[in-house]
Amino acid sequence: MTELNHIFRLAARPVGMPKRSDWNYAAEPVPDLADGELLIKILYLSLDPAMRGWMNEGKSYVPAIKLGEVMRALGLGRVVKSKNTAFAVGNYVYGVLGAQEFAVSDGKGLSKVDPKLAPLPVYLGTLGMPGMTAYFGLLEVGKAKAGDTVVVSGAAGAVGMVVGQIAKIKGCRVVGIAGGEKKCQYIVKELGFYSAIDYKSEYVRKSLRTHCPNGIDVYFDNVGGDILEAALANLARNARIVICGAISQYCATEAVKGPSNYLSLLVNRASMTGMVVFDYADRYAVAGREMGGWMAAGKLKSREDIIEGLETFPDTLLKLFKGENTGKLILKVAEDK
Ligand SMILES: NC(=O)c1ccc[n+]([C@@H]2O[C@H](COP(=O)([O-])OP(=O)(O)OC[C@H]3O[C@@H](n4cnc5c(N)ncnc54)[C@H](OP(=O)(O)O)[C@@H]3O)[C@@H](O)[C@H]2O)c1
Repeated sequence: MTELNHIFRLAARPVGMPKRSDWNYAAEPVPDLADGELLIKILYLSLDPAMRGWMNEGKSYVPAIKLGEVMRALGLGRVVKSKNTAFAVGNYVYGVLGAQEFAVSDGKGLSKVDPKLAPLPVYLGTLGMPGMTAYFGLLEVGKAKAGDTVVVSGAAGAVGMVVGQIAKIKGCRVVGIAGGEKKCQYIVKELGFYSAIDYKSEYVRKSLRTHCPNGIDVYFDNVGGDILEAALANLARNARIVICGAISQYCATEAVKGPSNYLSLLVNRASMTGMVVFDYADRYAVAGREMGGWMAAGKLKSREDIIEGLETFPDTLLKLFKGENTGKLILKVAEDK
């Protein structure tokens, strides 16, 4: 009997929040392999805010997903067939695998991961793309150093939780901004942030003034919008702002809200720099080793929020935009057997 591959293909460009009908959920035969190819059984998919942007038409740092194409998604799986000498059956691999059960690859862009060094989901979170974003964004772009006051938004999410912990390792005073009391308690009590601001119940601009009496040296922005504006209103001289993301704006149906008070950069001799993690790909291994060391020493914690079932993909993705995840949001597609 032909084995089937359940697969989400992009059916429409979403307006605002994506909905189930923006994808086609189909069952297609698992393709045969050509020479040089391998077949991967997908175990976990990484759900990332950027996926919303990839569904739009227009210029970005990667091409838009075409209508009818498999929904782009990073994932991790096990090689189950191989006609590629660089990958053997049983290898675990990480890369752009797509929102589906099986992926055929020519091996380009795939990296092998070792399940003996860390549980597989950690390679999608703290030791994966979000962790690398935190590491290079904070240290290379933000140039965080001991004694700095670092503020991070989206602080209980995949990138934010790692930013805060690395900042603490480096001797910074870290203030996290997150939605809700539970998340705020988590980042302070479990992750050791200096303090937290609940943007859903506090006036962030005023709270930042209280929590950062000498101003913000590094603001790591994951959310954009009003919170970016509040941070700009509280900068220290020579502050660095890392524009990592702007999730508050990704589903906007009107023009993206930019900061009206950007002249704070001038007054404070500050800089605001955009970053894309893929630019640091040739140094992931070095960063991974350092972060693995911090994890082994108990200084860096990882947390994954794992939801089961490929068919739940459209609803599970929305959790990111509703703030329903804590730590790295992952979709479990199959058991490893
Ligand atoms: N530049 C790069 O290379 C790069 C790489 C990876 C990720 N990113 C960006 O980094 C950011 C975080 O990504 P992630 O994977 O770590 O996601 P995440 O933080 O794990 O999940 C998204 C979180 O955003 C918060 N959020 C949602 N809507 C919001 C709103 N309107 N205002 C404020 N907060 C809101 C929610 O937390 P609350 O409950 O706290 O609201 C939600 O849990 C995203 O903007 C993403 O695009 C950039």
